[in-house]
Amino acid sequence: MITPIIFIFSLLLSSSHAAVQDFCVADLSLPESPAGYACKKPAAVTVTDFVFSGLGIAGNTSNIIKAAVTPAFATQFPGVNGLGISLARLDLAVGGVVPFHTHPGGSEVLLVVQGTLCAGFVSSANTVYIKTLKKGDIMVFPQGLLHFQINSGGSQALAFVSFSSATPGLQILDYVLFANNLPTEVIAATTFLDAAQIKKLKGALGGTG
Ligand SMILES: *[C@@H]1O[C@H](CO)[C@@H](O)[C@H](O)[C@H]1NC(C)=O
Repeated sequence: MITPIIFIFSLLLSSSHAAVQDFCVADLSLPESPAGYACKKPAAVTVTDFVFSGLGIAGNTSNIIKAAVTPAFATQFPGVNGLGISLARLDLAVGGVVPFHTHPGGSEVLLVVQGTLCAGFVSSANTVYIKTLKKGDIMVFPQGLLHFQINSGGSQALAFVSFSSATPGLQILDYVLFANNLPTEVIAATTFLDAAQIKKLKGALGGTG
């Protein structure tokens, strides 16, 4: 008689150990790991951790790309940590562009709210998928693939993008190549561009060497 009772009791114990957490709000005081941020103590969590108010304001597009990305990733929006979702706002002035970039950590869905965008990505097979998007159109960009958005209309464009990750990451190809101290001869050897063009782009994007 005692054995089944112990057995049932041990099942209850093990299932309570296996119970999933409701959330894991990012503890930004600790470093980010590949699995995301550590969880803030539940007693310290408040509703403000689950609300982000920064996406109502247009980003500053007074820059070389004439565009601004305002992220609401786990670092800015601790409540999404561990949930596999996040958002960002995309503002593009006339002639603005988000140059070829990748989000290593997640796929993207883009919704055009205002204006006209020319957007595209290139697959691993080097096939190009490109489309002009109007207000209300959405487009997906599969995880890790290089993609871009250009304001191809005559007015300011606004889009919101969501990701299948709380920390999708953002790596912009032109910045990888021309906004750091990677030596010009290494860039020339790996891209087949000529040195004069590389130095010009380093000058425009703040790179050295
Ligand atoms: C936008 O950025 C530019 C360049 O950094 C700066 O001069 C300008 O003051 C900024 N505008 C606003 C409204 O913050």
